[in-house]
Amino acid sequence: MLKVKSINAFYGDIQILHNVSLEVGKGEIVTLLGSNGAGKTTTIKAICNLNPAKSGEILFLDKHIEKTPSYKFPHLGISLVPEGRHLFPDMSVKDNLLMGAYGQNDKSAINSALEEVYDIFPRLKERSSQQAGTLSGGEQQMCAIGRGLMIHPMLMILDEPSLGLAPVIVDKIFDALKLLQTRDNVTFLLIEQNAQLALECSNRAYVMENGSIVIEGKAEEMLSSKEVQKAYLGL
Ligand SMILES: Nc1ncnc2c1ncn2[C@@H]1O[C@H](COP(=O)(O)OP(=O)(O)O)[C@@H](O)[C@H]1O
Ligand SMILES: [Mg+2]
Repeated sequence: MLKVKSINAFYGDIQILHNVSLEVGKGEIVTLLGSNGAGKTTTIKAICNLNPAKSGEILFLDKHIEKTPSYKFPHLGISLVPEGRHLFPDMSVKDNLLMGAYGQNDKSAINSALEEVYDIFPRLKERSSQQAGTLSGGEQQMCAIGRGLMIHPMLMILDEPSLGLAPVIVDKIFDALKLLQTRDNVTFLLIEQNAQLALECSNRAYVMENGSIVIEGKAEEMLSSKEVQKAYLGL
């Protein structure tokens, strides 16, 4: 579904990504692992054209998207849930969710999408009129994911959804992702530092170090390989 081929990305003159290649197949959960500063967010920014790659290829459903501006990604069927969530703190939960459907006109489709989000995260329904800025961290993450779901994405890209959240909340969020994968056939590219957790719910994974992919494989094989765990995952 998504193919990234040998991209190089820079901030100013400093090269951050070195020939990064990865693939996400239809229906998969693929995780990009790596410690702080490895280049994970930079990879997402290159894919979504927020900080375009200087070279390399990016294809979605076999079409080149290197030049597609990020605001068009929802039309392609790609939702990005960025690091730090980026909610509108003064707007209600419901209005934040509705922002995810911005530009769509079909009212009944929007309402049914909203109901589906409430079905996956009942907590958001209870809090629908509350200002998003007053939600707990976990609820804010649910709201950010819910907003991304409003377009019924084919591919959802999540940058560190577990960051700063209590383990029970993280489990809830990952359970929701699994449900979306199995029930609604949503494909995921997940960015995580939490290797154990991410590998448990992923099909395949890549590990990034200093802007390069250093290892890739099936998640279960990575979880069972002592060498991989020791060398790359800090487990
Ligand atoms: N806006 C920026 N300007 C300059 N350097 C940046 C910027 N954002 C990130 N970097 C640098 O790029 C490297 C990779 O960062 P990032 O992709 O955010 O890592 P990760 O998401 O894996 O923690 C780091 O060395 C970081 O300091
Ligand atoms: Mg990051």
